Amino acid sequence: MKIDIVTLFPEAFEWFRSQRHVANALAAGSEITTINPREHTPLSGGQVDDAPFGGGAGMVLRVDVMDAALRGHYGLDPVDLRRARRVIALTPAGRLLDEELVGELAAEPALTLLCGRYEGFDERIVEHFASDAVSIGRYVLSGGELPAMVLADSVLRKLPGSLGHAESALEESFSQALGGMPEYPQYTRPAEYRGWRVPEVLLGGHHEQIRHWRLAQARARER
Ligand code: 6GU
Repeated sequence: MKIDIVTLFPEAFEWFRSQRHVANALAAGSEITTINPREHTPLSGGQVDDAPFGGGAGMVLRVDVMDAALRGHYGLDPVDLRRARRVIALTPAGRLLDEELVGELAAEPALTLLCGRYEGFDERIVEHFASDAVSIGRYVLSGGELPAMVLADSVLRKLPGSLGHAESALEESFSQALGGMPEYPQYTRPAEYRGWRVPEVLLGGHHEQIRHWRLAQARARER
């Protein structure tokens, strides 16, 4: 999986790259590349954004700057780029990221993530350069960097070899193995702490009983 991230804050992804499961995915052949529009802008003084037409607070990432950044990196008109690969604009108005979309994206060989900043993108970026608009929830963040990391994290952990145990991805929350249900509760040592005991069934070693208990617990959390 090749993930290219167009961001004015490439340094924000240094920590992300160092996370163990991300580092594992990178060691297994995945790649995370950042593209900084400021390094491609045709405008003087490294300008990348501008005041919104019609007035209002904040600044908007310019369409000509995004054009230059994508064209400069890929050597391709971005209008054609989005036919060659998924180009995802991260925007609060986009399609909600859920396990289904994550699975869909994890099957792609390459993704390009566009991070807006300030008040977001010029809408023509979403309309003409992106194949998808994705949101991570119904609230507003001040940039697309955190959503890009959320998306990249959820996609990379789906790839074989990124987690320590292949099973932990398989059985975890919302996975097929649990019929799309949230995960069951987990416990570890000590078996009793301040009088709070771990459910007896987990200590008995009866795998069939444990499986049933976990399914029931996951169901109870579903709501
Ligand atoms: Cl993708 N971007 C921003 N700025 N805010 C968000 C979001 C994305 N998803 C939820 N809130």
